[in-house]
Amino acid sequence: MKTFLFALTAALGFATSSWGNPPLPYEAKAKHMGVVTCQSSLCHGSIVSWKSSNVLQNEYVTWSRADPHALKAAQVLMNDQSRKIAANLRLKEPAHQAKICVDCHGHNPPKERQGEQFSAADGVSCEACHGPAEKWLSTHVQPNATHADNVRNGLYPTGDPVALARLCLSCHFGNKDKFVTHRIMGAGHPRITFELDTFTLTQPPHFVPDADWVKRKGSWDSVRLWAIGQALAAQEQLDVFSDSKRGRDRLFPELVVFDCHACHHPMSDKRWRPATGPQPGVVRFNDANLIMLRQIVRRVDPSASADFNERVRKLHEAVAGDGEAAAAHRAARAVREAIDLLIPKLAKRSFNDADMRAILASLAEEGQSGGYRDFAGAEQSAMAVGSVLNYLARRGALKDVKAANAALDRLFKSIADDEKYQPERFQAAISAVRQLAQP
Ligand code: HEC
Ligand code: HEC
Ligand code: HEC
Ligand code: HEC
Repeated sequence: MKTFLFALTAALGFATSSWGNPPLPYEAKAKHMGVVTCQSSLCHGSIVSWKSSNVLQNEYVTWSRADPHALKAAQVLMNDQSRKIAANLRLKEPAHQAKICVDCHGHNPPKERQGEQFSAADGVSCEACHGPAEKWLSTHVQPNATHADNVRNGLYPTGDPVALARLCLSCHFGNKDKFVTHRIMGAGHPRITFELDTFTLTQPPHFVPDADWVKRKGSWDSVRLWAIGQALAAQEQLDVFSDSKRGRDRLFPELVVFDCHACHHPMSDKRWRPATGPQPGVVRFNDANLIMLRQIVRRVDPSASADFNERVRKLHEAVAGDGEAAAAHRAARAVREAIDLLIPKLAKRSFNDADMRAILASLAEEGQSGGYRDFAGAEQSAMAVGSVLNYLARRGALKDVKAANAALDRLFKSIADDEKYQPERFQAAISAVRQLAQP
């Protein structure tokens, strides 16, 4: 009975962060006070950063001037593209008032938890990521307040990679409460791409994970972020696939979890190869995150590698096979459970230079041998290469930074347009990464 219960929680549960499973900011039961309560020049709205403070103090300036979450995320709901999406979906309200859009393009906690100064026009605001400030606003500035005190008072633990991945993915893929379906994409919504480390670096960051940050919040490891981002993204996708509600679209399964380009390409362009999938003429599960996880497991937990690969292979077979949908959903849950066991190992792991070189080499090797012919796989592997190279460079462990930048440039150019993607060009570009892995 005990083991049965464990299996059940493993199948339904979330990966746990070092802070347990705090509610996401929009779920938390406290008042959201609004950006004006953060932005004073004595708080987070200083024009220049403070030398004497352990945080930059100019976070508001960075966010309001350069961060797409500030104005842009909300403003796009007023543009022609959004008007068209709303009309195509026959929404009753305009996009900027429709919950289905504002839940991701803004910060939309329930009305009764919006404080007097809260403004929906602020976009994805401070509290959308850091949690409702009602209970920590006045205490977090006290000289002896620790990070743990703040988290206890409802600050969302963005410094924890598992919690961070859950937060970003809640909008950059979706979760049980909000989700960009294939119908929304068909109405004109762009395809969504996400990789935790790359996106954290390009947000742009308003924090510096220096020695002081590490002392307060624990270590910052880009490769760990990449790995945990892959694990949680794969789990969300597997959850959608095996969910009897979100995973269905009337007659069909929800198409968003499949490889977009398996369907969206001209009929004259015959792309299938045995390496692409188990059978021709079959819609493939989008395995971009899973193929990254294969690399991660191989390095982090070598003894589990064969089992993990087998679970992924069985999932592909079950999706393509002639069995029942239930069999495919079981195969998806088996992969998900393996990822559940992997996450605590990733959370504890510090990736060293040798890990990074090995991951880089095997990405290049698999890319060179045609492992990422699908666009989505190519895109994820390019972001992975970027994240690993960046990290090596910051640690001063790259021999030739100029060559690395040139190689990355070529790699990203080869995936710049998903509709003009040529696997051969990508293959050549990723092969060149191999020699960069040498110490
Ligand atoms: C699950 C969260 C989510 C939901 C729901 C959602 N979006 Fe988005 N949307 C995003 C993300 C994330 C992006 C950015 C994609 C990227 O660049 O990777 C985006 C991008 C867009 C863009 C393109 C923005 C640009 O800068 O070019 C438009 C327009 C848009 N969304 C409109 C809508 C509308 C209208 C709705 C409601 C029908 C909606 N979105 C629902 C998350 C969401
Ligand atoms: C899209 C999510 C997001 C939004 C929006 C956001 N932040 Fe952050 N913030 C982060 C992440 C991620 C970190 C880095 C992890 C950490 O330090 O906890 C961070 C870190 C911080 C830190 C801590 C730096 C340190 O050294 O401990 C402060 C202070 C901060 N943010 C303030 C703000 C303010 C003020 C706003 C609004 C003007 C804001 N943030 C908006 C995600 C966000
Ligand atoms: C409440 C929803 C929400 C959350 C939470 C969120 N984002 Fe976003 N993010 C968006 C939307 C919507 C956009 C699209 C803005 C646009 O282009 O108009 C976006 C855009 C971005 C972009 C620019 C993408 C591009 O293609 O230009 C980056 C980078 C990004 N987010 C990183 C992050 C990171 C890292 C986190 C977690 C710390 C995060 N986001 C959390 C909603 C969210
Ligand atoms: C199983 C096949 C299949 C998969 C997988 C699939 N789509 Fe589609 N998609 C379709 C079909 C069928 C239509 C409707 C085409 C039409 O109306 O002419 C469509 C329509 C669209 C449209 C509107 C195009 C138009 O002509 O109106 C967009 C945009 C779109 N899909 C994006 C995506 C994205 C992004 C993905 C991956 C996340 C994806 N699709 C995955 C089959 C698929």
